[in-house]
Amino acid sequence: MTDFHKPLDLFNVKGRSAVVTGATGALGRTATLLLANMGANLSIAAGSESDLEEVADEARKAGAEVLTVNRRPEKISDAEAIVAAAVDRFGGVDVLIVASGTNIPKMIDEMPTEEWEDVMDANVRGSWLMCKAAGPRMISQGRGGKVVLISSVRGRHGSPLGYSAYCTSKAAVDGLTRSLALEWGKHKINVNAIGPTVFRSKLTAWLFDDEKTGGPANVPALKRIPLGRLGEPEDLSGILAFLVSPASDFCTGQVIYVDGGYSAG
Ligand SMILES: NC(=O)c1ccc[n+]([C@@H]2O[C@H](COP(=O)([O-])OP(=O)(O)OC[C@H]3O[C@@H](n4cnc5c(N)ncnc54)[C@H](OP(=O)(O)O)[C@@H]3O)[C@@H](O)[C@H]2O)c1
Repeated sequence: MTDFHKPLDLFNVKGRSAVVTGATGALGRTATLLLANMGANLSIAAGSESDLEEVADEARKAGAEVLTVNRRPEKISDAEAIVAAAVDRFGGVDVLIVASGTNIPKMIDEMPTEEWEDVMDANVRGSWLMCKAAGPRMISQGRGGKVVLISSVRGRHGSPLGYSAYCTSKAAVDGLTRSLALEWGKHKINVNAIGPTVFRSKLTAWLFDDEKTGGPANVPALKRIPLGRLGEPEDLSGILAFLVSPASDFCTGQVIYVDGGYSAG
């Protein structure tokens, strides 16, 4: 029940145990620092050990307890190890954010099947494995949970620029989101996805560089964003805070576009 005198209680995740994969990436780092500042305990995972420790140190400076697991969720044993580490250290898992993922833009006739599989593995298999590992734990805890998957406007909109693997993978993430929302609703586990458009990360940094693009007129996505700019990872903080907290208790199975209005057109 909402106490209208304490609206910020809607976003209270103090002491909750949160798992973030891909924590070394632009979005994973943002999610980690946000949750750290919201008072959650963090278990963060990624393949690059030194980058992971750097993000962990930043989060610790915000006063958070942070555990690092130097793994990508490539196999079920990886996903189970990430979840088990969180359970051992913090006694359970309340929040799962799967921010690990990749893109290899290439036209279909030029793309080896192995690279299609790499994209599908990182974006779909990784999300599915993390849910498979964390879901039973959340169910057995009996106190619900929050799962946040990362889709993209590309789950809904195609692209002529060599995104046949990426678009397919994100559409699959959308399907996973809706399916698990139906499977786990009775356990009060919310499963939602965020659908961003381009935001600044290692892979997209060149799109923010006028020297490399030749200016904003040469960035096709920009022409379709009514708010008139590309995103920053911090633009996703608000939706993350909503989806990990009691504020979203009656929201599940949704892909929520935080894209400057791109998908409205
Ligand atoms: N940036 C955008 O414009 C944009 C737009 C829409 C959606 N997204 C989605 O947002 C999510 C996060 O992307 P980001 O922009 O934060 O990317 P990023 O900065 O490149 O970070 C990607 C993260 O995933 C990990 N990773 C990279 N390749 C991987 C693989 N093959 N398997 C498993 N993990 C891998 C990386 O960690 P390690 O290398 O340390 O393991 C890193 O932590 C992705 O799902 C992406 O598709 C991004």
